[in-house]
Amino acid sequence: MIQRYDLNYFDEYKASYCFVLSSIIIAMKKEKNGSIKTALVVGASGVIGQNLIQYLSSLPDWKVIGLARKRLSGSSATYLSVDLLDKEDTYEKFKGLPEVTHVFYTAYQDRPTWAALVEPNLTMLKNVVETIEKVSPHFQHISFMQGFKVYGAHLGPFKTPAKESDRPIMTPEFMTEQQRYIEQQQQGKSWSWSAIRPSVVGGAALGNPMNLALVLAVYAALCKELNLPFRFPGKPGAYDKLMELTDADLLAKATVWAATDSQTSNQAFNITNGDLFRWSELWPKLARYFGLEWAPGVPLPLKDVMEDQEKVWETMREKYNLNADYKSVSSWAFGDFVLSWDYDFLSDSSKARRLGFHEYVNTEEMFYRIFDQFQRDRIIPSFK
Ligand SMILES: NC(=O)c1ccc[n+]([C@@H]2O[C@H](COP(=O)([O-])OP(=O)(O)OC[C@H]3O[C@@H](n4cnc5c(N)ncnc54)[C@H](OP(=O)(O)O)[C@@H]3O)[C@@H](O)[C@H]2O)c1
Repeated sequence: MIQRYDLNYFDEYKASYCFVLSSIIIAMKKEKNGSIKTALVVGASGVIGQNLIQYLSSLPDWKVIGLARKRLSGSSATYLSVDLLDKEDTYEKFKGLPEVTHVFYTAYQDRPTWAALVEPNLTMLKNVVETIEKVSPHFQHISFMQGFKVYGAHLGPFKTPAKESDRPIMTPEFMTEQQRYIEQQQQGKSWSWSAIRPSVVGGAALGNPMNLALVLAVYAALCKELNLPFRFPGKPGAYDKLMELTDADLLAKATVWAATDSQTSNQAFNITNGDLFRWSELWPKLARYFGLEWAPGVPLPLKDVMEDQEKVWETMREKYNLNADYKSVSSWAFGDFVLSWDYDFLSDSSKARRLGFHEYVNTEEMFYRIFDQFQRDRIIPSFK
């Protein structure tokens, strides 16, 4: 179920009910398992953080605490609202968390340039690590989320398949700076780290700036409403290049594996579905799933073009009783970004597989599963 934000009075009541419920579940887990680990999931409302919380709380030996600035609620975890850019606030909220054993860091602050991303994203990570070191005597491991930006994939054609052992690119690049900081900070300490490098992530979240599945689903819903064919809106050169994606559920499993396996300490891992595709093969299949006619692509700057469709969406909301406003389904800039990659976009994920992580996801089926979920949650109209 997709996470909801912005609590009103009734939600306050539900939030305290969820808090009591999650405390009971944790007490039951404890009784059953003796000792349990405590996860602090930083970035709990993100595409990646939400799935991580769901997965960890399905496991018998984890207590889960989720953290974001927004006030969140749900029965899978207890939630904290913290602004990680504020060191004082971070300390005030963290000082009640001596039981944290594992930090799963998936927070992200967006900025308009690659260079501007470094400062806030490094500050948030530093505030988490340095505060947890102070307040939690049981702290064992930090897992932090990276991506193919460490390989320069966002800048243009890069060496493929990218390997964890590839030499770093010239910074400023926030993920590389974060890793450098963690490596230095860990020197002489008893805790360890793992860095996780997914491709673009597929997950059923709402209101996130980087959500490819939502871009495709909402674009398709608008095409259907306007009686238009499903045209590839990206750069023509991106249509036939090799791509790979990472399912958010698979990513959650891999992240927990790397944070707890005895052979994975202080290393990075590429994590991907395990198959490759080209939009040219997948696009007509997606059109079929949505019951849309396929037609040759036209490069459409989604961020500009889709701004105009808000009125259509509002009409659709009424007509189909949809749950989401236009802002929360609009990751158009991210859609433009991903669909502009007119070069192969893939890594070698055999290192994780060699060390014991063997999960695989079929990317086409991943999309259908997420689109089905969007329809069940009435984020988009039913296509059946
Ligand atoms: N999505 C992808 O396809 C993808 C692919 C590869 C790598 N990655 C990387 O994975 C990481 C997470 O990505 P994502 O897509 O899950 O990001 P996201 O959906 O934007 O989530 C970011 C999370 O960080 C929290 N956050 C931001 N500023 C905060 C602050 N000052 N204090 C506390 N929490 C804060 C946000 O909650 P609030 O806004 O409520 O604070 C949210 O929970 C990023 O580094 C991203 O580059 C993402």
